[in-house]
Amino acid sequence: MGKMVAVHSYKGGTGKTLISTNLAVTLAKHGKKVCLLDLDFRAPSLSTLLKIDKAEYWLNDYLNGVCEIDKALIDLSDRIANQGKFFVGLANPSVEAIRDMSSKDRKWEMRALGRLLSLRNSLLNAKGFDYVIFDTSPGLQYSSINAIVSADIVIVATTLDNSDVEGTRRMLRDLYDLFEKKTEIVLNKVLYDDALRSGRDKLQAMVKDTYEVPLLGVIPCFCDVSRAEGKIIFVHDKPEHPFTRILAEVAAKMDKL
Ligand SMILES: Nc1ncnc2c1ncn2[C@@H]1O[C@H](COP(=O)(O)OP(=O)(O)OP(=O)(O)O)[C@@H](O)[C@H]1O
Ligand SMILES: [Mg+2]
Repeated sequence: MGKMVAVHSYKGGTGKTLISTNLAVTLAKHGKKVCLLDLDFRAPSLSTLLKIDKAEYWLNDYLNGVCEIDKALIDLSDRIANQGKFFVGLANPSVEAIRDMSSKDRKWEMRALGRLLSLRNSLLNAKGFDYVIFDTSPGLQYSSINAIVSADIVIVATTLDNSDVEGTRRMLRDLYDLFEKKTEIVLNKVLYDDALRSGRDKLQAMVKDTYEVPLLGVIPCFCDVSRAEGKIIFVHDKPEHPFTRILAEVAAKMDKL
């Protein structure tokens, strides 16, 4: 039985898109059948990252009830070049679509939640996907809460920035507890010279103390990742890079949850 995974964060720019995309591609490269869905309708990024500017149907259309999910999925397995499968569903990046998605009411969001929940049946059961991974908007947008509610595992990406730590702590305590989800933290953009030097055990203890959830992974701040300017899928284009090794560890650990 496959799993639905939401990658979320309190603040913006913590690495949700980087982590969700590279995790999806890592799993696909290891032979899994993976579907990556861009639920960040306020600032879609996957279409740019994957260099797809036109789609017959977007995820917006699926959530609007205009099409079924298979119409909104694009098969990019040939980009991965092994026996795994890599499908994506994209958020429409046009200004008109962003404005439309920002003006939805609660009733629409409830219906959208129903459509997200039904992906368990249509993608995991019927189509045999091993993973459906949601990239989300930061904070408490409806679309992100819907993604959290639908998911089996929630990965929360956070930096060690004080406001991020505090906000993430509050969000985990006040919101996630309600949903009783299996939640794991990924510390991202950690600087080598301070936090990393203090050792993984200390970081693990700090995460347990602060957030009361387990630590799934620690990703250093890599100049090479920054330098890539979101133009490549790092684990695919830089197979020998330490970032790729770390993502493989995170993927293996998640696979065992
Ligand atoms: N470990 C890292 N080392 C260096 N740069 C990083 C790292 N993680 C993320 N970045 C960079 O930080 C920026 C934000 O990352 P990303 O877009 O993945 O964050 P996000 O959480 O999806 O942002 P948003 O909330 O806007 O959707 C990108 O330029 C990315 O390349
Ligand atoms: Mg993003």
